[in-house]
Amino acid sequence: MTITLTQKERMLLEDLKSSEEICVVKYANYASLAQDKQLKTLFENHAKLEQQHLNTVNSLLSGQIPPMSQQNNVQQPQGDENASLSISDKELCTDMLMTEKHVSSTYNTAIFEFADKRVRDILNHIQKEEQQHGEAIFKYMETKGLYQPQ
Ligand SMILES: [Fe+2]
Ligand SMILES: [Fe+2]
Repeated sequence: MTITLTQKERMLLEDLKSSEEICVVKYANYASLAQDKQLKTLFENHAKLEQQHLNTVNSLLSGQIPPMSQQNNVQQPQGDENASLSISDKELCTDMLMTEKHVSSTYNTAIFEFADKRVRDILNHIQKEEQQHGEAIFKYMETKGLYQPQ
């Protein structure tokens, strides 16, 4: 299935592309900086999911409507690595929460601008996954006592 994008739609997709590229890079790098093994695994899984988002956005930019991606939560064990940069797991989590919140609202803004319902549904699906990433990080922080809801 193909789609012809308006100039505005193309610009919005370019913004989403930049956001997803940053998410892939951040999650991959933060996985190696995290001290806790469970957090490394969480970030690594998220890096893969962000890569899928990036692939979807790239497909849309090339005028193709991809099938709705399936949630893929493969757990992958990860060896310990020493962090050279001093940043705590709590700071890594807080930064990714901020990032997910920002990316989610970027998708929200974009969704309103698309004429094609199929694209809206795809962007909405990705936005929901961004919220799930935020929820997974929040739950991790909560169980580790790094986040106290007020
Ligand atoms: Fe994403
Ligand atoms: Fe995300």
